[in-house]
Amino acid sequence: MDHADRRRAGIMTPTHFLSISDLRRVELEACLRLAGEMKAARAAGTRHVRPLEDRHVALLFEKPSLRTRSTFQVAVHELGGHVIELPPEVALGGREPIADVARNLERWVFAAIVRTFAHARLEEFAAAAPRLRLVNALTDAEHPCQALADCLTMQERWGTLRGRTVAFVGDGNNVARSLAQAVTMLGATLRIASPEGYELQDEHRAPIAAEADAAGGRLELMRDPVAAVDGADAVYTDVWTSMGQEAEDAERRVIFAPYQVNSNLMAAAGDGALFMHCLPAHRGDEVTDEVIDSEASVVYDQSENRLHTQKALLALLAQ
Ligand code: CP
Ligand code: NVA
Repeated sequence: MDHADRRRAGIMTPTHFLSISDLRRVELEACLRLAGEMKAARAAGTRHVRPLEDRHVALLFEKPSLRTRSTFQVAVHELGGHVIELPPEVALGGREPIADVARNLERWVFAAIVRTFAHARLEEFAAAAPRLRLVNALTDAEHPCQALADCLTMQERWGTLRGRTVAFVGDGNNVARSLAQAVTMLGATLRIASPEGYELQDEHRAPIAAEADAAGGRLELMRDPVAAVDGADAVYTDVWTSMGQEAEDAERRVIFAPYQVNSNLMAAAGDGALFMHCLPAHRGDEVTDEVIDSEASVVYDQSENRLHTQKALLALLAQ
């Protein structure tokens, strides 16, 4: 049996979390369940498990971050571990090869939380340090930690995602891809409405659709934002210009203008539809103040749940 077979058979827990697809459905569900328990314990002021006692976790961030960095710092601390922050100039590949950075860290720390550009850099890092727990804190391709928090937020509102419809309006980017993997794995439909040329990329669709089928979920890509939100239980958007794409900003503002989530678009969604955004939001661009500050908005619940889901994820990886 190779590693993938042993994972599928449930013999191994994941070593790395580069993608939602590194988790089997039962593990995703277990992670969300544990996150809910940890959230309740924290609110009650009771101590939960501390699986990182006397362990160190390195943070390497090559792009800015408020939420991911802060929540991992707090998460590691609350799980009994210690964070070491690595400055970007020693991070991935500038001073020495990525594989050498990984082989060094593997000798010192339990886990590395990495935010970088090309997803392949994380894969190279993971291959060089198989004993290290590696967590994707966002790449150009995926943002799986965000999707964990998003799913917990929806579960809290609905009990289960099974049978629900989530509409993602905008760029078929890293956040959209991880959301698609997670939401469909939990039995919901994800519709993504994007302008031509900004759809979820072809090579990412087939594996998501295959997992979705197995779980009773669906992935639907479309052009029209009004059709996407029609009857949806949640409307999700993200920035039009992701980190690293700043040179395209002027062009993207024009192309994405019809995809703004405003009161008219929310009115076309189902009664009681939630508004979701991973943050940071560019208010007045992809979402209006009126929507993000409305009763429908759960964006700060999503942000809070980054902490609880990442604590649960680290606990799972520490098993
Ligand atoms: N949503 C999110 O990942 O936020 P940061 O970029 O601030 O970490
Ligand atoms: N798509 C955005 C998400 C930020 C959390 C980016 O990559 O910049």
